[in-house]
Amino acid sequence: MERDFDGLKPSAQMDPLQSSPFMRACRREPTSYTPIWLMRQAGRYMPEYRSLRERVPFLDLCKRSELAAEVTVMAVKRLGVDAAIIFADLLLIVEPLGFALEYTKGDGPVIHHPIRTGRDVERVRELSTVEPLDYVFRAVELARRALPNHIPLIGFAGAPFTLASYLIEGGASRNFIHTKTLMRTDHGAWHELMSRLARALARYLNAQIKAGAQAVQLFDSWVGALGPDDYRRYVLPHTRAVIEQITPGTPVIHFGTGTAGLLEALSEAGGDVIGIDWRIRLDQAWPRIGERAIMGNLDPTTLFADLALVRQEAGAILDQAQGRAGHIFNLGHGILPQTPMQNVIALVEAVHEISSSRPRDIGTRMSAPE
Ligand code: CP3
Repeated sequence: MERDFDGLKPSAQMDPLQSSPFMRACRREPTSYTPIWLMRQAGRYMPEYRSLRERVPFLDLCKRSELAAEVTVMAVKRLGVDAAIIFADLLLIVEPLGFALEYTKGDGPVIHHPIRTGRDVERVRELSTVEPLDYVFRAVELARRALPNHIPLIGFAGAPFTLASYLIEGGASRNFIHTKTLMRTDHGAWHELMSRLARALARYLNAQIKAGAQAVQLFDSWVGALGPDDYRRYVLPHTRAVIEQITPGTPVIHFGTGTAGLLEALSEAGGDVIGIDWRIRLDQAWPRIGERAIMGNLDPTTLFADLALVRQEAGAILDQAQGRAGHIFNLGHGILPQTPMQNVIALVEAVHEISSSRPRDIGTRMSAPE
């Protein structure tokens, strides 16, 4: 689906949030430099975050809205990025869906009594109200208030497949055996599960928008585990259903990893911006996603090398984008916890500096003066 931004009023175009480089890039309007933000920009690589976490367990940090907002804003100030992402987690929504969630040290998230049979799907509650997640919306409100007025705030949720994989596997997985088996052997239960998740996710994202998010990202982090035929059959209609329900005028970033074989199908599901990882060249991905903006795609491990290399690799991605309107720089996946902070800051500076000094799209799509 093509989502239309031409309805933005002239007043909206003067709004510092709507005219920020990030929002302009989402709409494929030209910008004087390439905007950048980083997945997991608030996290353990940051000394301030680690010291906060010594006192506060992760789930508590998510649920204490003042702290979550503070962490959100802190990352932006420390890095100089062009957008904030609300500090939360993809799995918070499983609690109101009826599942017990725990973050164990070392093992990552655990979902107790996961879905294993078609009958288990009946345990997934309809999220008739998003009230149990009020602490997220409150964090969005507080972060929006505390952020500079030209820094957009991104809300997010997991996409139906990635969320389903956690509910079925009970945690992280390498081969997704339970997920794919349920998907293939009980079509009725699978589509029922995915439909319930899609309805819940759309409500959740729209409530984040209402609370003050300017854009939303759907993380389909593990969808690259599927081939294109399975993606189309079992996932595409449900992701599309989420995206179609998002409040009009709010850009949607549709992100996945390992999607080199799925890009056409993934883009058909929707999204104004398609997020890609480093397993594909950006200039080969872009023609395959249709008339959309693109986000990516530096390998997060590049940040462990020396600064000259970080700069060189960032420059190589900017070369591939050729200054075309609609590129948002990001990593291909989240910042790793051991990443040296100074390299993250240097990356942001390098992208700003290199992109502003090279030729840029002068913008055939630039709106005519009123
Ligand atoms: O990007 C940001 O800065 C916003 C915050 C954010 C977190 N999780 C905080 C977090 C976002 C956008 C997420 C998304 C998320 N959560 C995803 C999709 C992103 C991706 O990586 O593809 C997934 C799969 C999850 C589920 C999750 N949460 C896992 C698998 C883990 C454990 C792995 C890990 O990195 O520890 C978490 C925990 C988590 N979520 C942490 C943070 C900062 C680390 C918790 C800690 O402080 O110990």
